[in-house]
Amino acid sequence: MIQNHTFRSIPFLFLFLFVGQYLWAGEGMWLPHLLKALNEKEMQSMGMKMKAEDIYSVNKGSLKDAIVHFGGGCTAEIISDQSLLLTNHHCGYGYIQSHSTVEKNLLKNGFWASDRKSELPCKGLTATLIVRIEDVTRDMLKGITVSMKDNQRRLIYDQNQNELIKKIAKESYQDVVIRAFYNGNQFFAFITETYKDVRLVGTPPESIGKFGADTDNWVWPRHTGDFSLFRIYAGKNNLPAEYSENNTPLKPRHFLPVSMSGVSEGDFTMVFGFPGRTNEYLTREGVRQITEVQNPVRIGIRDRVLKIMDKYMRADEKTKIQYSSFYASIANAWKKWIGESQGVKFTGALDKKQKADDEFLRKVNSNPAWSGYKNIISDLEDNYAKLEPLALAKDYYAEAYQRNTNLYGCYLRFKRLAEAYEGRGEEIYLKRRQEMTDQAEQLFKDVHISLEKEIIADVTRILIDGIKTELLLPYLRDQMKLYNGDCNKFSMELFDRSMFTSAEGIRKINSLPYAEWKKAVEADPVYKFYEELSYFLNYGIQPQAGLLEENIADLRRTHMAALMELFPERRFYPDANSTLRVTYGRVEGFRPRDGVWYQHQTYLDGVMEKYVPGDYEFDVHPRLLELYRAKDYGPYGEMGKMPLAFIGSNHTTGGNSGSPAIDAYGNLVGLNFDRVWEGTMSDINYDVSICRNIMVDTRYILFVIDKFAGAGHLVKEMKLVYPKKKNQRKNMNAMQKAS
Ligand code: ARG
Ligand code: GLU
Repeated sequence: MIQNHTFRSIPFLFLFLFVGQYLWAGEGMWLPHLLKALNEKEMQSMGMKMKAEDIYSVNKGSLKDAIVHFGGGCTAEIISDQSLLLTNHHCGYGYIQSHSTVEKNLLKNGFWASDRKSELPCKGLTATLIVRIEDVTRDMLKGITVSMKDNQRRLIYDQNQNELIKKIAKESYQDVVIRAFYNGNQFFAFITETYKDVRLVGTPPESIGKFGADTDNWVWPRHTGDFSLFRIYAGKNNLPAEYSENNTPLKPRHFLPVSMSGVSEGDFTMVFGFPGRTNEYLTREGVRQITEVQNPVRIGIRDRVLKIMDKYMRADEKTKIQYSSFYASIANAWKKWIGESQGVKFTGALDKKQKADDEFLRKVNSNPAWSGYKNIISDLEDNYAKLEPLALAKDYYAEAYQRNTNLYGCYLRFKRLAEAYEGRGEEIYLKRRQEMTDQAEQLFKDVHISLEKEIIADVTRILIDGIKTELLLPYLRDQMKLYNGDCNKFSMELFDRSMFTSAEGIRKINSLPYAEWKKAVEADPVYKFYEELSYFLNYGIQPQAGLLEENIADLRRTHMAALMELFPERRFYPDANSTLRVTYGRVEGFRPRDGVWYQHQTYLDGVMEKYVPGDYEFDVHPRLLELYRAKDYGPYGEMGKMPLAFIGSNHTTGGNSGSPAIDAYGNLVGLNFDRVWEGTMSDINYDVSICRNIMVDTRYILFVIDKFAGAGHLVKEMKLVYPKKKNQRKNMNAMQKAS
């Protein structure tokens, strides 16, 4: 991946001389305020008709003023002068769910506000805009010396940051966020505005917004209309304000016009949003440890967990409803990890990483001034090797007992209550305890005890068989002795003897006076087990693992600095860290494996091919069927077909959900919502041969709003544009066929 950068300096003219392999790499999540210096030329050579300052400017409205950090985890974009906000269905899911009841099920039936008054307030939902970005590296590094380790640095960073936040010019309603980039070598400050009155405006039914659900998650070809609509409201003077009936729609500095032209293969696209986390500059050993050591363990445990859940969910409708959201979130990362490890294998990524490491060393050795960098890679290897069993143990415990079971939550509830007493006194404790008691039934609404028991039994077996003896939790070892190695028995006793695992138990225990309550809690087997576990993790594993992790962080910071110093001719983009980034590429298909070519575009026809009447993932709404049969696509169809989704070589990751796909002119052409499974390794090794992002075609969104839902008033609010299709890559097809 690193070597790709060198190619970028080759003039664009030569780009297509190589048949079957694109020279331009598609890689990179770039900082919007640095585009002029680093990317503008290349973007324009790929067909972009804008200037860098049309994308990011502090002097005038620019694209960045339409890009919103949605609820802190996803991206959304403003698509009307009344701050209509477009994001994914899966980003809005929790808010849609919170407005759903059995009688008025918005998830199932969809929802379209017919006027402003019917738009639904969403408690806790925020929309953050970026006002400007400043380089604060010099201030943040004040007092830092090269030899300082990460843990020493952190104190100084904190001080510097406090100083800086006081110093940076901002309005009272704005915030400043400072983040480290390039593994801690540079720092940027983001001046932001956060709006707290965001309302739900529209959502398709799940059968469109989540069509294909988990089976199709991460999969191309895809047919999900994964979108929902919100609106940002502002208080007096168009400023951020808490929810109030009197608030009015924010008047935005910019909003995205919506393209009716669609895309052609080869078209320039950029995706603008808030990618969460990537690790693109790992050495070979870093990638190997993730994909060959950690992923298999995480995947193995989740395989088991998902199979058990599936068994119970299939057997019983109620369980299916209870666990569908939990199942989906467990399956999401599980599937991604499988794709990631396979992608690394499929593309020979470890060899590429090895070559990059070798090249780095050759360069270091070519100049005595760089001798300080000689041992970075071998030191990293050393630390990774020492960390490996510990990292693996951490994965085992987290996957077995924390992430994939409701039992952990049962424990945490009481742990927090005990802490509340110690830290905040009896009054608070009693208040919270009463709340817990009042909610007791509610807390177990989505918990199926036999299912949870079976999970704990099975993952305990996997953990005991897989983990190094010296890293086995001593308490667990004793329990196994007690139960003769019978994991079922262990799990059964854990649940059956605990008061934490039923509403009745909670009520009982919470009726005790504090002293007795404390005794009962501390004697509870679930409490004991998790206390032992966290003690072991904190004092048995973390002291050693933490040191190694710090070493690795220090080495990675130095490695990054060295890469930038040794290869000044290359362009480096910082790893994703949930800050605003631009990534750009082309609309293009790809070859996922021998003999298979994936087209760049899907159509509504594909929904009908996948249609399984009555199925919870692949059912189709009668109205959609009707429109399909009549080919009634209004102005949104193309040559008798309804375009639905497309893929491109934009480098995205989690957090880019809901990001706009923008055409050469700054118009919205698509809505990012996923990546192709084969290319999920892009978080650690972007490779343009198989890494693609997935976007809903804007025309499908408009079709669903207007034709399917009859909410044409929302489309009227948008600015529809018809840019001429620029088919810059006529020879693209020919090339693909050759590859
Ligand atoms: N894979 C997408 C992402 O990483 C969508 C996840 C939500 N959808 C689902 N079926 N779990 O976030
Ligand atoms: N679905 C992801 C999200 O919620 C985006 C897909 C990806 O990881 O690229 O952010």
